[in-house]
Amino acid sequence: MTMTRPLFIPVILGTPRQGRMSEHVAHFVLGELSKRAVIETTLIDIRALALPITDAGEALKDPQFSATMMRADALVLVVPEYNHGYPGLLKHVLDTNLKEYIHKAVGICGVSAGALGGTRVIQNLLPVMRELGLVTIFWDGNFPSVQNVFDANGALVDQAHLKRMDKFIKELVWMAQTLRYGRENIPREK
Ligand SMILES: Cc1cc2nc3c(=O)[nH]c(=O)nc-3n(C[C@H](O)[C@H](O)[C@H](O)COP(=O)(O)O)c2cc1C
Repeated sequence: MTMTRPLFIPVILGTPRQGRMSEHVAHFVLGELSKRAVIETTLIDIRALALPITDAGEALKDPQFSATMMRADALVLVVPEYNHGYPGLLKHVLDTNLKEYIHKAVGICGVSAGALGGTRVIQNLLPVMRELGLVTIFWDGNFPSVQNVFDANGALVDQAHLKRMDKFIKELVWMAQTLRYGRENIPREK
């Protein structure tokens, strides 16, 4: 299949924590996505969105974030594991949209200090993705012992992640292309 325009795949950095290691992961993923001519990407930092916490859901829509989600063909979520779950602020941000996500692909990169590479947070996010209408891929990014994966400047130390990220991105691109084709060519029965 030839593509007439690049796939738009934003990366969402899913924690506002000061000193977050997930920021290194998000920049690494962003860099790997950017190397591919078929992909256009951008970084969305949930801290920078600064959503109010006096309401919830679509009442809090940020026009620019919603427009970016509407334009996206796929998303990458970079999500640290906090007490085996996902950061509450990430859920708060994701809840502000719904129709914008439907039939778009999503890949999740789990980040943890522990040995499991965010496996548990990824599992916990899957039902949320489904309810938002996002379509998960069957390959994840896992960044266990993240403190050993990057140096203090955020440069990749463990080169094994390059090959793993390549597999992740290839799968995400396939799903994003497939779903774009479906959204644009296959009418939904009413
Ligand atoms: C509130 C909180 C809970 C955490 N719970 C876990 C956990 O359940 N499992 C784990 O491996 N690491 C846990 N960590 C450590 C994070 O995985 C670690 O900080 C890692 O660098 C990813 O998060 P970060 O992007 O905030 O740095 C926790 C960290 C915080 C702040």
